[in-house]
Amino acid sequence: MNHPVSESQQRERIRTTIHADADAASALVAGELAALIRRNNDAGRPTVLGLATGSTPVRLYRQLIRLHREEKLSFRNVVTFNLDEYHGLPRTHPESYWRFMHEQLFDHLDIPPANIHIPDGTVPRAEVFAWCGAYEEKIRAAGGLDVQILGIGRTGHIGFNEPGSGRDSRTRLVTLDALTRRDAARDFLGEKNVPRHAITMGVGTILDARRILLLAWGEGKARVLAGAVENPPTDALPASFLQGHPAVEFHLDAAAAGELTRQCHPWLVGTVDWTPAVARRAVVWLSKTVGKPVLKLLEEDYSEHGMADLLTEQGPAYGLNIRIFNELQHTITGWPGGKPDADDTHRPERAFPPQKRVIVFSPEPSDDVLGMGGTLRRLADQGHELTVVYLTSGNLGVPDEEAAMAAELVIELAGTGEETKFARTVRRQLGAKTAFDSDTPEVRRLKGVLRRGEARASLQACGVAPDRARFLDLPFYEQGRYRQFRIGDPDVAAVAALLREVKPHQIFATGHSADPSSVAAVCFEVLRRALAMNVGEDWRADCRVWLYRGPDREWEPAEIEMAVPFSPRELTQKIQAIYHHKSQRSQSPVVAAGLHESWQQAEQHNRAIARRYDQLGLAEYEAIEAFRRYDP
Ligand code: F6R
Repeated sequence: MNHPVSESQQRERIRTTIHADADAASALVAGELAALIRRNNDAGRPTVLGLATGSTPVRLYRQLIRLHREEKLSFRNVVTFNLDEYHGLPRTHPESYWRFMHEQLFDHLDIPPANIHIPDGTVPRAEVFAWCGAYEEKIRAAGGLDVQILGIGRTGHIGFNEPGSGRDSRTRLVTLDALTRRDAARDFLGEKNVPRHAITMGVGTILDARRILLLAWGEGKARVLAGAVENPPTDALPASFLQGHPAVEFHLDAAAAGELTRQCHPWLVGTVDWTPAVARRAVVWLSKTVGKPVLKLLEEDYSEHGMADLLTEQGPAYGLNIRIFNELQHTITGWPGGKPDADDTHRPERAFPPQKRVIVFSPEPSDDVLGMGGTLRRLADQGHELTVVYLTSGNLGVPDEEAAMAAELVIELAGTGEETKFARTVRRQLGAKTAFDSDTPEVRRLKGVLRRGEARASLQACGVAPDRARFLDLPFYEQGRYRQFRIGDPDVAAVAALLREVKPHQIFATGHSADPSSVAAVCFEVLRRALAMNVGEDWRADCRVWLYRGPDREWEPAEIEMAVPFSPRELTQKIQAIYHHKSQRSQSPVVAAGLHESWQQAEQHNRAIARRYDQLGLAEYEAIEAFRRYDP
């Protein structure tokens, strides 16, 4: 596509727009679709849409429903073809894409059922090939796709075209990638329930659409998006084949765009405003790129890497090196709650008050230890008044086997009271449960209790008294399903009340750049709204919010504002603490190659930050947990 790109977008091979958030992007895309549908409706022509499922397009579909209800946008003349469907799932299965599309979109529109086409997951294996050919034929007969809506998987898949899919591939049966199946495991309440195969439109089928709009949210997608947009097309990353399309556009939120060169290395693609934060990012990047510690960077290193103007403005090199080195050095502290009676001019936290009231918000039990188990121990050891708040029960993440075992245990104890009755009910309900069923309130309650037990044991392993835990069991989660959570006033009120009660000096939270449909992101949004309700209360002026990161990604060293190092022994203790979250371990002893258990991921992240600090020429530690300030 011949599109005007700005200098900063020169590496981008696909037109890409970065939006304030997923809602803004979805509203814009809905507007484009609505305009097309209206034009075609007026001309008496049908509009043929290719649609996607998953959490990404949910906001877009809500917008379309709103346009239909409030602005009389009619879908009578709209024909749709969905990208894909799991093979082996009947329409009635809660995770079938057929059901998803009806619940999230079609049931709320005036689209005639005959206009809706979704791959049929029940076609017998022997007939799939012919069935797929017929699907392609139906798309052709409808006049081809006017617009194809896409999401992108963490493997780089579009539709279910996993790495290895060819540019010319057509609608067919495919095998799902291990990572894709793991990502779907929560929706299916366990990886073992995730189908192994799917029917998907091919890359070639998608490329035949006259217009392609890909949407993506959250930092988990950032890496794969940068590859698809900026690197040469390859079947190792099927979304990169979209580069060849004459009318493709990506719409991203800031977190998903985070690894595009214009966002993370803007000095490589044009002139930049050298704010202190950008200068720090650039110097840290230069140190990594040339493989030298910060204090050894030379003038020529700067000028050979697009940073001559930084030197002109803020040089010479050695002075700049020292300034950035000191900034990095000052992020390191063994006193995450502030060091009492110390000069805190260059420390991340204030010295006063020496003992702070600290709230650690954990979206699900285990997020706290994964993200900041070492820091939790420090905060407890250093005498701060710690409250660890588990925002949701996490019961959706507990395998049935764990709950069944717990129920058996209670029954074995051969009591006669209410507990045994309850356990028998759970056992009966689990026994009757099919792959289609959601958990009953009793089963969810027991699963929640299991996670509470794990959270307490894990806190204890971090040196935090278990009675410091508070379990909010926020209603959005108890009443919701994965990817379909909706925040209500009671959620925000519960968190606001807790803040008002504790009046924290320090808050630790996570989920800030996560996929907006994830539990962590929803919890962060609840906290943000609760903080907005508390503006003006006396404790607010004195409260700092620190962000820790989820398991997908660690902070880049230049983003870190507080780095808490810990010893080899403390790292072992942290891993032990994570290990107490037994229900969260993989259910199979055989973990697919390249995929790791959560404690391994946490260990890798913490070691990697320590290594990066070492390479920058700072002290060499075993492991580091990192934080950033957040201004509510
Ligand atoms: C869905 C589809 C997939 C998803 C992708 C992202 O029909 O074809 O390619 O778009 O897996 O999924 P979410 O949106 O759930 O992150």
